[in-house]
Amino acid sequence: MQQFIGGRTPSPRSVLLAEVAQATQRLADAGVPSPRNDAEELAAFVHGVKRGELHSVKDADFDARYWEVIARREQREPLQHITGRAYFRYLELQVGPGVFVPRPETESVVGWAIDAVRAMDVVEPCIVDLCTGSGAIALALAQEVPRSRVHAVELSEDALHWTRKNVEGSRVELRQGNALDAFPDLDGQVDLVISNPPYIPLTEWEYVAPEARDYDPELALFSGEDGLDLIRGLERTAHRLLRPGGVVVIEHADTQGGQVPWIFTEERGWADAADHPDLNNRPRFATARKALP
Ligand SMILES: C[S@@+](CC[C@H](N)C(=O)[O-])C[C@H]1O[C@@H](n2cnc3c(N)ncnc32)[C@H](O)[C@@H]1O
Repeated sequence: MQQFIGGRTPSPRSVLLAEVAQATQRLADAGVPSPRNDAEELAAFVHGVKRGELHSVKDADFDARYWEVIARREQREPLQHITGRAYFRYLELQVGPGVFVPRPETESVVGWAIDAVRAMDVVEPCIVDLCTGSGAIALALAQEVPRSRVHAVELSEDALHWTRKNVEGSRVELRQGNALDAFPDLDGQVDLVISNPPYIPLTEWEYVAPEARDYDPELALFSGEDGLDLIRGLERTAHRLLRPGGVVVIEHADTQGGQVPWIFTEERGWADAADHPDLNNRPRFATARKALP
């Protein structure tokens, strides 16, 4: 018999919220790092609502396709590949097979770069994003640094399929090519060079999370035995592109904070080389200034 307490009936839990709780448990059992978040995001995606609106989905409208996407996530397919979208700072980007899914730790690298460019007080700052992938870094800088001229380069044709969609209608000038010899026409003119290049040591392949190892392109992840092959080359590219006093910002693995700043030495024409932590206080990116003549 129904119990009445103070004239109100306890509201029954909606079907969708009960299914989300069950899906959360399944994802947790599969080793997904953020099971509640992903179960809710996928419920919102399938039902075409925002996460905060899940309670408003009527029981009769529960869509059984929810269990299909939960099964894919259980297999560790990235959440962003299933929904086709990734969030980065104030952007929503299109992503899928062939392109690296932008990561939250890169947002703090971009935050530092924005502050650095603003401090330069240049009217139309010239910015280059090497290894742009989805275009996340380049687009964030174009959006958040007024009057910036942002150039981006990417090698992989598979990645460019997504980059082109994302940069369409933006101020980002995109080129296909190798970052190591990119933009010879901008030599000595750039205010800021930024890159989140591949940096995982080949020796760490087995420790990489399944979402990255099985779905991010290999070209986006690995760079030689110690992971620093491309960064060593990008040091030369950045030096060639920057004007004297211009700044380079390079993301690296949290184990490489003691190595990357040492690539940007005074002998090679750099000043103020330093390393910086991300929001989890882990070493995350190196910066340096091209020395004045
Ligand atoms: C770790 S992902 C980063 C993508 C993007 N910058 C981001 O932060 O989301 C590295 C990217 O570098 C690209 N890449 C690797 N080697 C390259 C090279 N020599 N020249 C240009 N792009 C390269 C890969 O295809 C991949 O898109």
